[in-house]
Amino acid sequence: MAICNQCGERLPEGKSVCPECGAINTSEGVADVSRETADSESDRRPNLKGGSNLKGENEENVTDTARMRVKPEGSPDVIRIKVKRQDSTDGPSRWEEFDVPYRKGINVLTCLMDIQKNPVTAHGKKTTPVVWDSNCLEEVCGACSMIINGRVRQGCTALVDKLDTPITVAPMTKFPVVRDLMVDRSRIFEAFKKVHAWIDIDGTHDLGPGPRVAPEVQAARYDLSRCMACCCCMEACPQYGPVSQFIGPAALNQVRLFNEHPSGNLNKDVRLNAVMEPGGVTDCGNAQNCVKVCPKEIPLTDSIAYLYRETTWYSLLGWLKK
Ligand code: SF4
Ligand code: SF4
Ligand code: FES
Repeated sequence: MAICNQCGERLPEGKSVCPECGAINTSEGVADVSRETADSESDRRPNLKGGSNLKGENEENVTDTARMRVKPEGSPDVIRIKVKRQDSTDGPSRWEEFDVPYRKGINVLTCLMDIQKNPVTAHGKKTTPVVWDSNCLEEVCGACSMIINGRVRQGCTALVDKLDTPITVAPMTKFPVVRDLMVDRSRIFEAFKKVHAWIDIDGTHDLGPGPRVAPEVQAARYDLSRCMACCCCMEACPQYGPVSQFIGPAALNQVRLFNEHPSGNLNKDVRLNAVMEPGGVTDCGNAQNCVKVCPKEIPLTDSIAYLYRETTWYSLLGWLKK
């Protein structure tokens, strides 16, 4: 039985192309493919050491796969990645190490997908596929937050070429683990509900054109509106934790976002009252970690400063009205 030299998967009878990882196996290992030296489409065919030609072996697929396997000089053949595993929310955790084939431009999620296809540890032990959350793969949905080399960030934009190896990947620590790298991020949505992070409409009938919003206000609000509920800011915040009441910087930012909209401003009081309760804006210790890790570069500390001013005026006015 022939085995793929790249991923260890069984090769179909008489075939040299691995159906699992796409590597082209030769008698001397995996085919050495060089796109830089190719002048024409036909020249770009994999240069198999052993001189075999690929006709009759799904040539199209082989050529495409081969293009993906171009490896810059001096780069490693495999990437060692250490993943923190946990089978259930309350179960014990453990570390497992994997070797995944290096390709230029891959990110941490690509590595996890490779592991999913062939869940065998670097020490040759069969294991279960790693579980993680992702959706957009382009830093828009916020689902793939994880701790990579000790820093919370998105797995889909963590390029292997820019990371020290071995790469360590662990789930966020301030949210319940569902399994492996997947965590339950419900707390951020509960915090959004608490601060009324939406604009009410009073029916399905046509409300007519909304109020005009000055371009400067639109631009400022656009920066605040880019939050993707990834929870990185909450993970990095020293004041935020599983047992703390603090709602976190993302929800505070939403208060500013909606209070600065002419329609949202109609419910300004509701939001300001919410952030003046325990767990609100005064729980922020001004460590400024949140603004450093936010993948969308939202000016979170400006929003928190804005809320300090707004809540002070709101309290003063309330006291004068008495
Ligand atoms: S400024 Fe510091 S304490 Fe306040 S929300 Fe950001 S990280 Fe947390
Ligand atoms: S404010 Fe930034 S870090 Fe926090 S949840 Fe939104 S996008 Fe993520
Ligand atoms: S998969 Fe959507 S942000 Fe990473």
